[in-house]
Amino acid sequence: MTRAGQREVVVCALADLPPGERREAEGAAGHGVTVFNVGGELHALLNHCPHRGGPLCRGRVGPLARSTRVGFWTFEREGEILRCPYHNWEFDLKTGRALYDDRLRARRYPVTVRGGQVTIHLSRPNRRFPAPK
Ligand code: FES
Repeated sequence: MTRAGQREVVVCALADLPPGERREAEGAAGHGVTVFNVGGELHALLNHCPHRGGPLCRGRVGPLARSTRVGFWTFEREGEILRCPYHNWEFDLKTGRALYDDRLRARRYPVTVRGGQVTIHLSRPNRRFPAPK
């Protein structure tokens, strides 16, 4: 990790973050910020679970499981759901919203790629989606 400016952190080279992988900027924004490559889209989340403060970004990434009827499951959106290692709450990597209660969300940060380097912008938390109801 290289600091490129007071409010920006260069995390890694884009070539070192292929789809399905993640890279952490330890200590960024206090708890650390992790960039996930979700099918070619980059999403940066604060490593702090909004439930009870667990290390959210160190959790397992997997699909969304839906039950169609008792005993039957379907899996969709592979690689888009992050599960907190503390109490297994699940979060949408693309929005930060908790699946259990979409009023809760993980803090997200804008990510850019400049000169092949993945950079997070800490001064501008990402609030592109509507506020909770
Ligand atoms: S601290 Fe993350 S689910 Fe409880």
